Amino acid sequence: MKGVLLAGGTGSRLFPLTRITNKHLLPIGDRPMVSYAIENLAAAGITEVMVVTGGTHAGEFLRLLSNGREHGLDLLTYGYQERPGGIAEALGLAAHFADGEPVCVMLADNIFEYTIAPSVAAFAEQEVGARLLFAEIAQLEHLRHLGVPELDQSGRVTRIIEKPADPPSKYCVTGAYLYDPSVFEIIPTLVPSERGELEITDVNNHYVAAGQMSYDVIEGFWGDAGESIDAYYAVNDFVRHNGANHPTAS
Ligand code: G1P
Repeated sequence: MKGVLLAGGTGSRLFPLTRITNKHLLPIGDRPMVSYAIENLAAAGITEVMVVTGGTHAGEFLRLLSNGREHGLDLLTYGYQERPGGIAEALGLAAHFADGEPVCVMLADNIFEYTIAPSVAAFAEQEVGARLLFAEIAQLEHLRHLGVPELDQSGRVTRIIEKPADPPSKYCVTGAYLYDPSVFEIIPTLVPSERGELEITDVNNHYVAAGQMSYDVIEGFWGDAGESIDAYYAVNDFVRHNGANHPTAS
């Protein structure tokens, strides 16, 4: 399984902090934000990773992460997104790198208290389809800024709604996604959303419609440090006091 780390976008929700750098290079605790996602992938046994970035600060990722050896990777390669066309478009740039293997995709602004290794291991046993990691979110208003799954009585995902006015469950779709290689056939069929982007939620709904979507509900803290300046500091406070990427949830 290959790892794809998405670190592009304009970071407009963190403006003006992101005027002079890429959001994923801002500090969280004692290291740049992107470091946590790299560490989480590496700890899950993923040793070949592509970082997809864009904008004017792409070279800084090479300076920071180099060839990935410091993080225990065998291969760290880079992709460049020419315009902020969405998470799914950025993932599409990794098609050649994935080379027919399944992928573990992480948004580089997502911070997890615990390793995602159990989900990666479960997906390795899953022959086809996709697997998502859901986090339980207490505040309804917070859910309105995320992707939210609708579940039937047996707990199956019936659809995922991006930024719902009326969230259909208490769970959000976190930015860790596991896909079989057919994801690279789905992406070219997508049409841009109202915000002009190829949405990862549309990719996920393809798998839901095909009856090929599974999920885990994670334990512990999860945060999207790129959601707002408040969220950025909330994630920072958590990580400074508790750390991140701990080996097990119990
Ligand atoms: C993206 C996804 C959303 C997901 C979130 C997690 O949102 O579209 O479904 O819940 O990441 O961080 P965005 O950051 O693009 O608003």
